[in-house]
Amino acid sequence: VAIVADQAIQALSQRLANHLKERGLLLGPVIAVPGGEASKSFAGFERVCNGLLDLGIERNHAVVVIGGGVVGDLAGFAAASVKRGVALIQVPTTLLAQVDSSVGGKTGINSRHGKNLVGAFHQPSLVLIDTDTLDTLPPRQFRAGYAEVAKYGLLGDADFFAWLEDRQEAVYRREPDALIRAIEISCRMKAAIVERDERESGDRALLNLGHTFGHAIEAWAGYSGAVLHGEAIALGMVLAAEFSEMQGICAGGTAKRIAAHFEAAGLPRSFDDIAMLAGGKLPGADQLLGFMAQDKKVSDGKMNLVLLRRVGDAFVARDVPADKLRAFLGGKLG
Ligand SMILES: NC(=O)c1ccc[n+]([C@@H]2O[C@H](COP(=O)([O-])OP(=O)(O)OC[C@H]3O[C@@H](n4cnc5c(N)ncnc54)[C@H](O)[C@@H]3O)[C@@H](O)[C@H]2O)c1
Ligand SMILES: [Zn+2]
Repeated sequence: VAIVADQAIQALSQRLANHLKERGLLLGPVIAVPGGEASKSFAGFERVCNGLLDLGIERNHAVVVIGGGVVGDLAGFAAASVKRGVALIQVPTTLLAQVDSSVGGKTGINSRHGKNLVGAFHQPSLVLIDTDTLDTLPPRQFRAGYAEVAKYGLLGDADFFAWLEDRQEAVYRREPDALIRAIEISCRMKAAIVERDERESGDRALLNLGHTFGHAIEAWAGYSGAVLHGEAIALGMVLAAEFSEMQGICAGGTAKRIAAHFEAAGLPRSFDDIAMLAGGKLPGADQLLGFMAQDKKVSDGKMNLVLLRRVGDAFVARDVPADKLRAFLGGKLG
């Protein structure tokens, strides 16, 4: 195997490399990649592909990628591409990567046209999750990953969400039982959805709950690191619930309940919280709507959006009128 690793976890990846080397399984030195979105570039992709080819990678070899979602997506795409595809083993080391990006087979890089626009479906042969690797993860990154955990409860498992309301602090204290349960339930749900719909022609879109709002907030903030993905989608999920309630689709009080949970979990649940992260600035409603329209194609003034009927019951609405969204966002942002 060849190892591609996040630079931030050098001690860990070196340990893994030493174990594999002792067993005569390692092709050569670890290919190190800096964490952070900038690595998911054509230049980064070229570096990893050439690094793998330098090691003499062959079709019967495998790429082991250890790190966060950035390195996973990048090295996964390299594994899908070198020698027309070699096996991939994901060893995710952020909470987000453990519950989301390492499972489901989406790999890729960014283009100047936007995020994740060049890539491949390449399912990992194995996803190896060791919760001890999270010991060094900064709390803010952990919280951002937790937003995706809560997403699984909201989109399809009300009991899980209620359990999280009860056990979120234990998960944050990284108590093994609670943490492992949260990750396991999340992975099972993602895997089940991807098994039903690998290529996102239907159900997989449910995983985008809160993401159209969230991606627009991220795009507005310029992917500067001021607002992390998980932070943006936390507010995105509250907004999806509020909008659903406003349309009379969703049980009253749902948005309040979700907002209360994110407040307890230290995640943004209002535009004021986003302003705190973004140096006091906020987008205008039209500006945000513009970014949302870029994320999801608008046809005939209508947009696809994941909405909520209640906690644990999300669905893909295919014809949300843009003017209703405008009115909703205008009420919050002017
Ligand atoms: N393929 C998919 O289905 C999918 C799904 C969701 C997100 N993603 C992608 O995942 C990426 C985000 O992933 P992420 O949140 O893991 O970000 P990331 O990979 O940038 O990791 C966050 C930060 O933590 C550092 N880090 C990683 N592991 C660590 C550890 N154990 N201890 C200390 N520091 C550590 C990284 O170096 C980085 O600075 C985005 O590019 C997104 O597009 C992909
Ligand atoms: Zn996400």
